[in-house]
Amino acid sequence: MNLFRPISSPTIKGTAQSIWVKPKSQRQNLDFDKALPPQESRFRFITDETQLNNIEKIKYPIRVFDLKGLGFTDKEAQDFITLFSDDSGMAEDLYTMKIKQIEFLKRKLPGHEERLNGFLKDYYTGRKDLIEISDLIQQLQGDNKIKFNSIGPTRSRSIQSFDIKQTPDNNSWYFIYVLSNNYQQDVTASDYRSELREFNWTALDKTSHPLFKKFIASIAELTGELLDKKNIEKIKMTFHEVRVYAPGSPAPEGPHQDGTQIVLTAFVIERKDIDGGKSIVYNGAPSEKGTSTCIEKTLEPGQGCFHTDTGTPIWHYVTPIEKSNSTQDSLNRPSRKTLGLDIEVVLKNYN
Ligand SMILES: [Fe+2]
Repeated sequence: MNLFRPISSPTIKGTAQSIWVKPKSQRQNLDFDKALPPQESRFRFITDETQLNNIEKIKYPIRVFDLKGLGFTDKEAQDFITLFSDDSGMAEDLYTMKIKQIEFLKRKLPGHEERLNGFLKDYYTGRKDLIEISDLIQQLQGDNKIKFNSIGPTRSRSIQSFDIKQTPDNNSWYFIYVLSNNYQQDVTASDYRSELREFNWTALDKTSHPLFKKFIASIAELTGELLDKKNIEKIKMTFHEVRVYAPGSPAPEGPHQDGTQIVLTAFVIERKDIDGGKSIVYNGAPSEKGTSTCIEKTLEPGQGCFHTDTGTPIWHYVTPIEKSNSTQDSLNRPSRKTLGLDIEVVLKNYN
């Protein structure tokens, strides 16, 4: 039995218009009560919910892993990291730059906050451009004008969606590529992440690589261990390849959930000359009383963090990154590169 071998070459399906996000009201609530305990998993974890002794009892799976724990050999792990250290196919993410620009204007021109808030939604989605608020920008003087003009993209990104299915014997997983470069998060309407965004597709030479397929099949199998695998019709995944430049914030929205059932918040590919970027997982919304911090860990290259998300009390955050004091200036911008997955399970009896 080879769990990690796709049964056929990837097939291509879907249209550029298709998106997979369902409204919350149509979502299945998953029951994690029968999740396979981490000690019985076929995978080995660096940290899991049963090892977290700062919390009395965590009812939901939280697993920190590395590639070796997923069954990669040292060479496979190194090759996988090398494959994704390359940024081909990625493009600058202008969405975060737009938020920074408007936040800056709101700080400097506080009397215009309402107008700027109204403008942000249309600017964010590309329906309006900065020309619409040129009268406000012209009010900036001296240093502020220079600072505003220097706000540029601080991250680059690609995405790829997949449907992951099982062979009839439940022994292997295979992919169907969903051809959509649209991305929308199932969060409240007032949250800018609810807006439809477009990103580059991840380069096909990466997503068709056998080690990428092994990685995705491992995460599908790990997901299957949390539920009754035989009842899974398919797993919908949206893959994110993200590089954040320092100084910058991997989670500008603060502590959050991503609006999906399960999330691989970050699998770290590279930490280039940076400090910070510590992953924090909370048991409970951080704004509420009684919330505890489950995990505070700076993930190293080759390590990832996988846990439940919307519909459970598990929230997460990543601290900002800065250029490391201990490194010399070099031509390369300090940065943190990660992979992420939004994971949505469709059970067989669900229409
Ligand atoms: Fe997130």
